[in-house]
Amino acid sequence: MTHLAAKHRTYRLLTPFRNEIYTSDPRNVEYILKTNFHNFGKGSYNYDNLRDLLGDGIFAVDGEKWREQRKISSHEFSTKMLREFSIAIFKKNAVKLANIVSDAATSNHTLEIQDLLMKSTLDSIFQVAFGTELDSMCGSSEEGKKFADAFDTSSALTLWRYVDVFWKLKKFLNIGSEAQLKENTKILNEFVFKLINTRIQQLQSSKDDSDNKRGDILSRFLEGNEFDTRYLRDIILNFVIAGKDTTAATLAWFIYMLCKYPAVQERIAKEVKEETMCEEGISSPTDFVSFITDDALEKMNYLHAALTETLRLYPAVPVDAKMCFSEDTLPDGYSVNKGDTVAYQPYAMGRMKFIWGEDAEEYRPERWLHENGKFQPESPFKFTAFQAGPRICLGKDFAYRQMKIFSALMIGCFRFELNDDKKIVTYKTMINLHIDGGLQIRAFHRH
Ligand code: HEM
Repeated sequence: MTHLAAKHRTYRLLTPFRNEIYTSDPRNVEYILKTNFHNFGKGSYNYDNLRDLLGDGIFAVDGEKWREQRKISSHEFSTKMLREFSIAIFKKNAVKLANIVSDAATSNHTLEIQDLLMKSTLDSIFQVAFGTELDSMCGSSEEGKKFADAFDTSSALTLWRYVDVFWKLKKFLNIGSEAQLKENTKILNEFVFKLINTRIQQLQSSKDDSDNKRGDILSRFLEGNEFDTRYLRDIILNFVIAGKDTTAATLAWFIYMLCKYPAVQERIAKEVKEETMCEEGISSPTDFVSFITDDALEKMNYLHAALTETLRLYPAVPVDAKMCFSEDTLPDGYSVNKGDTVAYQPYAMGRMKFIWGEDAEEYRPERWLHENGKFQPESPFKFTAFQAGPRICLGKDFAYRQMKIFSALMIGCFRFELNDDKKIVTYKTMINLHIDGGLQIRAFHRH
C-alpha cells in the first residue's frame, strides 16, 4: 500500500462487494474527517462486525449515540481528578515493569518487551476504567488472567469477521470462530458486569459520599442516578480496547527505534536526567519515579518528539476506513458512491516524500523541534496517527502522559539493545500495528 501510495495519492480497489478508495492526500483526509465529517462514518458494516464485542460503545456508533458519549467522555478525560488518578497508576505500573527489566538486566536475560508492555498498559487502563487492579503482569488473580485472555481472543476473533464472509452463518449455527467468540465475550461480560454491580452496591450502601469521589471512569459515570449496566459496560470496555494495544505497540516500536538509533536513546537519557535533575545518577526505579514530575515531563521536548516520530513511521492504527453515506466527490476529484469505503492511511502517509520531504523514511525526532528546542506539532491531516477532526482520538494526551512516564523511567534507568540485530523486525497484519513475534531485547543498568 505504501508503494502504491507513492505512485497514486488516491486509488480505488474494485472488489465484488464494495468499492474501496485509499487516500494519502492530506486534502482528502481533511475533507472526510472534518469538512464533510457527517458523510463519512463507521456505518452499518463496521457496526455489525464490532457489535458483539464493542456493543454501542463510542468506537462502533455514529450520530446521536456517538455525540452523547463523546460529550460525556471528553468532559471526563479533561478533569483534574482523572489526570491525577491515572498518573499515579501509570507510575505504579511503570515501576512494576521496570523491576522486571531490572532483574533481567542483573541476570543478563533477554526480554520479550512487547508482551510485557501489553500487560502493563492493560493493567493501567483497566484500573483507570474500573478502579480495580487486574494484575495481568504478575497474573496474581485467576479471574483477571481469564479476563485478559478472553479480551485478547475476542478482539482477534472480531477482526477475523472482516475477512470471513461466512461469519454471520457461523454465528447463526454457533460453530467455529463464532462459537469461540460467543464463549469469550461471555467470560468478558460476566467479569465486567460483576465489577459494575459490585460498585453500584458499594455506592448504594456507603453512608458518606467518599465512594463518589473515586477517580476511575466507572465511578464518574455512576455519579448520575440511572444505571444502565449494559451501556456502562459498552462505554468502559471501549476505553480499555482503545487504550491498551495502541499505547503498548507504540512503546514497543519506540524501543525498537531506540535500539536502531543509539544516539537518540542517549540524547533522551540525557534529557531525562537533566529535566528530573538527577544528573548525579539514578538509583532504583522505585526511587527515581518520584522525580518524574508533571513539570519535568512537560519539559521533555525531545522525548515527546521521539515518540511522535515513532508514531509517524509506526502508527498504531495503520489504515483507518470510513463508510461513505451518500454520493460525494473528494477534493482531488475522486468520486465516491454511497456504501463505498474510504480509507486514509497513516502508515503510508508517514513515509511519503511529498508530505515529509526527501528524508521521509528516516527516523529523525529533530524534525518535530522548533529552533528553540520546543516541540512543534504538525497538521493532524498530515500526521494522522491520532485521526483528526471531531472524532480525533480522545485519549491522545492520556496516551502521551503514559508513554512519557514509562519512557522516562525506562530510559533513565536502562540502556536497551536488540537481542539479535540481524533479525528482521516487521509488523503483523492486523488492525493495530503490532511487532510480529514480539521484540526480544537486552537491558543494561545505566548506573
Ligand atoms: C498511542 C496511542 C494511541 C493512538 C495512536 C490512538 C489512535 C486513535 C485513532 C487512530 C482513533 C480513531 C479510530 C477510529 O477510527 O475510530 C482513536 C480513537 C479513539 N481513541 Fe485513541 N489512540 C491511542 C490511545 C488512546 C488511549 C490511551 C485512549 C483512552 C484511554 C484512547 C481513546 C480513544 C477513543 C475513546 C477514541 C474514539 C473517539 C471517537 O470516536 O470519538 N486512545 N484513537
